[in-house]
Amino acid sequence: MASNRKVLMLPGDGIGIEVMNQVRVAIEWLAGKRGIGFDVREGLVGGSALDAHGTPLTDETMADAMASDAVLFGAVGGPKWDSLPFAKKPERGLLRLRKDMDLFANLRPAIVFDALVDASTLKPEIVRGLDIMIVRELTGGMYFGQPRGVETLPNGERRGVNTHVYTSGEIVRVARVGFELARKRARRLCSAEKANVMEAGVLWREEVTKLHAEYSDVELTHMYADNAAMQLVRNPKQFDVIVTDNLFGDMLSDEAAMLTGSLGMLPSASLGAPDSHGRRRALYEPVHGSAPDIAGKDMANPLAMLLSFAMMLRYSFDRGDDADLIERAIEAVLERKLRTADIMQPGMTPVSTTAMGKAVVEEMAKLAG
Ligand code: IPM
Ligand code: MG
Repeated sequence: MASNRKVLMLPGDGIGIEVMNQVRVAIEWLAGKRGIGFDVREGLVGGSALDAHGTPLTDETMADAMASDAVLFGAVGGPKWDSLPFAKKPERGLLRLRKDMDLFANLRPAIVFDALVDASTLKPEIVRGLDIMIVRELTGGMYFGQPRGVETLPNGERRGVNTHVYTSGEIVRVARVGFELARKRARRLCSAEKANVMEAGVLWREEVTKLHAEYSDVELTHMYADNAAMQLVRNPKQFDVIVTDNLFGDMLSDEAAMLTGSLGMLPSASLGAPDSHGRRRALYEPVHGSAPDIAGKDMANPLAMLLSFAMMLRYSFDRGDDADLIERAIEAVLERKLRTADIMQPGMTPVSTTAMGKAVVEEMAKLAG
């Protein structure tokens, strides 16, 4: 269907390819039944781009991403490319997309579906009803700070350097996203850093505290990131929105993912600054990786990818109803006891990636009536 919704699909490597195929099924259904069309282009990223073009992301694909309304990203990486020099690693493709599109705000919701309460390694009462949002800064800090590199010292020793650096502007813009989200939720924002050991952490705390003056309706707390990691498994429901830097956010979001039962359940949205029309550059990706060990076996969990697609509908295309439909359909397949291997439990029905995707679309059809 012709449309002005320009989407670039970058399935990437490993299970990225399989889970993205389930999005295609959903897109087809939406086009046919809900009259929402997408102008979908495709590209290579990560190892697949390396094999084809010798780089994890070509300039052409980068330009396609810049020209699209939203990018849907699968996953990158695999043992085949592990020993490549740093600049060629599949992950560089993803990092370049984030940096060049200036996607500074990474939203990682961790929601526990009722049907999956027992899939979590934590006690059911700790995770039942959990609904938290991690806002991870995505274009600064340790991931991009200069200087960086590995050098050989005069004494022959080697020295690896990365720099944790933040400007006040970088802190304020991501903190603002955190406050805005909290305002639409339970109005609680927890900012996590290491102000006890890092100057950039002190600055982070100061800037977030200053910005709070504009959001006095939101309750702000500060936590050291190590304590936040501990509190996330001790009593995760104390949190509503957590805002944190790039590296701490990487770790805290993996931890939060496991509260939900599986990394295969967690979607994410990476957003840039709104332009004068309120439109933001955006990339949507599951939090999980390319899982080379199960790739190509039709056993990966496509739900995080489908939930990422739902986030795209909500945040980039203002199609909250269609996003709700997908989310409710996912709840319904879980109620039907269908499970991919990662969330398998006694008494449940094991299904493949394809069967799971198909079941989600069936439930969408039922719910849409
Ligand atoms: C993530 C991933 C990435 C990151 C990798 C693949 C570069 O772990 O999105 O959380 O470290 O940001
Ligand atoms: Mg990560």
